[in-house]
Amino acid sequence: MTAPPPSPLADLLRRTIAEAGPLPLTDWMALCLGHPEHGYYATRDPLGRAGDFVTAPEISQMFGEVLGVWAAAVWQQMGAPSPVRLVEFGPGRGTMMADMLRAARVLPGFRDALHVHLVETSPVLAARQRETFAGAGVPVAWHRDLAEVPDGPAIVVANEFFDALPVHQAEKSRDGWCERRIGLGPDGSFVLTLGPADPDIAERVPDFWRVAPSGTVFEWRDAGPVAALAQRVARGGGALVIDYGHVDQGPGETLQAVRGHAFTDPLASPGEADLTAHVDFFALATTARAAGAAVHGPVGQASLLKSLGIEARAAALKAKNPERAAEIDAALARLLDTTTKTGMGALFKALGLADPALGPLPGLPAGPTTGPTETAP
Ligand SMILES: C[S@@+](CC[C@H](N)C(=O)[O-])C[C@H]1O[C@@H](n2cnc3c(N)ncnc32)[C@H](O)[C@@H]1O
Repeated sequence: MTAPPPSPLADLLRRTIAEAGPLPLTDWMALCLGHPEHGYYATRDPLGRAGDFVTAPEISQMFGEVLGVWAAAVWQQMGAPSPVRLVEFGPGRGTMMADMLRAARVLPGFRDALHVHLVETSPVLAARQRETFAGAGVPVAWHRDLAEVPDGPAIVVANEFFDALPVHQAEKSRDGWCERRIGLGPDGSFVLTLGPADPDIAERVPDFWRVAPSGTVFEWRDAGPVAALAQRVARGGGALVIDYGHVDQGPGETLQAVRGHAFTDPLASPGEADLTAHVDFFALATTARAAGAAVHGPVGQASLLKSLGIEARAAALKAKNPERAAEIDAALARLLDTTTKTGMGALFKALGLADPALGPLPGLPAGPTTGPTETAP
């Protein structure tokens, strides 16, 4: 590994490590993505062909439109409260919410009741969202955290948000479970190191992995953001979390870095690559239940979108825009792809969290969420 080129963030990380010792991987990820001045999201709009990655709402308007129908149906289940908060975590360019609001026109009472709240930490993307929602015709407010969203009935959506929250990693060594940290190599490059064996980590590792061989990695996220979301909707409302991840909880590491639509080394260019890790839907569901929410799903993205009528929406769009038929078909196929485990329709999952009084949520059958397995995700 060669030392990354100098950059304000790389220099800051190097100084921090030189002064205080290796940084826990979770702090490394938080700084690379979220440093208020030099972090990945503070310095760019990473979406789209010219950026680093493309998300489902950027593939097709149909994605946000069917989620708008989902939100309208949940609002009716809630007894049609007015006002109702429509909250989005990590809205990117605001594309999904704009498509949801257009679809919400089918139910005028819903659209009239909406107060939109966007939870966003990136100043660059918040500026982009302000452009998207200029003249939206509904009140829109920005926040850095869910806790700032005024109380009251709420419908919350999050696409590719939880995968960007920092993960912890621990590795089994001969001495026990040790936190993974980022240190400095002799040439100034960033290298993976292990902290001392930590009994608190050993406590959190599922029972039957305790006999795992040396080198086994266990990855997890702090439960706080999911618990806060679950507590909020349990008081009145529902949430839909869509992300890439796994339902079977297994050992293994999933941290990845993407730059210019290609995978890269997560330690090679701090603040210049998108860092994400699989969402552990079992952990998410367990945390949400413990916080008092009812849990619906998870189901694969293809299953959710089909039951919300995306194929009929594609047919209607094609009938109106026959010249765009091939593009619409290609986008639909990409969103619904289950031909491999990494196709979007299969890799991405949808999980509903809700006020237990609401009953099943649209497109999300109640069902068991699987638990720890012995295979890697
Ligand atoms: C991968 S992008 C997804 C954007 C959008 N949801 C989409 O599907 O196109 C992640 C989004 O979450 C935001 N974000 C990342 N970490 C955040 C945090 N801790 N709090 C609020 N927003 C965050 C980013 O700025 C960005 O808008």
